[in-house]
Amino acid sequence: MDGLTTYPRGWFVVCFSSDLPREGVLSLEYFGQHLVAFRGQDGTARVLEGYCAHMGASLSQGKVIGDDIECPFHAWRFCGSGECVHIPYSPKIPPRARQRAFTVVERNGVVLVWHDELGRAPDFEIPDIPEVGSAEWLPWQVSQYTIKTHPREIVDNLADKAHFPRVHKTEIDEFGFEVDGVRATQRVKGRAALANGGVDNFASRTTYPGPGYLLMRMDGVLSNYMLLAHTPVGENLLHLRMGVMLKIVGSQAQTEGYVSLYLDNLKKGFEDDMKIWEKKIYRDPPLLCEGDGPIGHLRRWYKQFYLRPTEGAST
Ligand code: FES
Ligand SMILES: [Fe+2]
Repeated sequence: MDGLTTYPRGWFVVCFSSDLPREGVLSLEYFGQHLVAFRGQDGTARVLEGYCAHMGASLSQGKVIGDDIECPFHAWRFCGSGECVHIPYSPKIPPRARQRAFTVVERNGVVLVWHDELGRAPDFEIPDIPEVGSAEWLPWQVSQYTIKTHPREIVDNLADKAHFPRVHKTEIDEFGFEVDGVRATQRVKGRAALANGGVDNFASRTTYPGPGYLLMRMDGVLSNYMLLAHTPVGENLLHLRMGVMLKIVGSQAQTEGYVSLYLDNLKKGFEDDMKIWEKKIYRDPPLLCEGDGPIGHLRRWYKQFYLRPTEGAST
């Protein structure tokens, strides 16, 4: 994209917390780069550039020693801030022996990195979900997809009011959309067709606290949170991670009985979107009519995450 960064700046999910046990190592490909995630014995998740500064081995084949990662090739060790802290056969560590390190936060059951092509520091946060870990809610049920599309297609969905009845069998009675700095929020009241032939009258609030991660709170037959995070692998390929957390109604066993049904329903909704995303092109500007949602408003909000500072991006 002319004059814009290739990837948006912001927080992006690189794994579920449960994917990275203590002393675990994960090979990652995001933002067109090879990365490595590891969790030290102290329980903290860290993410570094994946190819070793020495001779280029993949640190993802290495192992965790204490809170550091050791390269599989010549056993150089790197700490979470990227510095080489130990070379077994050399008393001197070259000053440039360091890996690029990402700022990492772990929140609401996922590990996120801050990505900014221009190296600007984080200037907003991912909010906590207070109900995570509560005895009144079930833990996240998760799933993950690899999709051949651009992140802007996932984000467009937030304002695309007219696709709900067609793609999701959902009638929209009220639709609101507002932006506030880096946050964009959609509020919907509607009626969803249930698999058993019934109708679920629901109200939902969906917020992007930045470009790569949405949280939806929905109250209807059941109360739930849905987390939907997309992270660019390359320019037209991304990982989409979904988590659903239900409030326990009646007994825990009864609610657990609903979970897989409910998750299947939500997954099917996104799978229907995915079929469209993988085959479509991006019209900019699109040809809109009355009854379409505020797609132009959403796209203006989303563009801020690609702007270079000289073009007025927040710093
Ligand atoms: S390539 Fe990593 S220590 Fe040599
Ligand atoms: Fe959709």
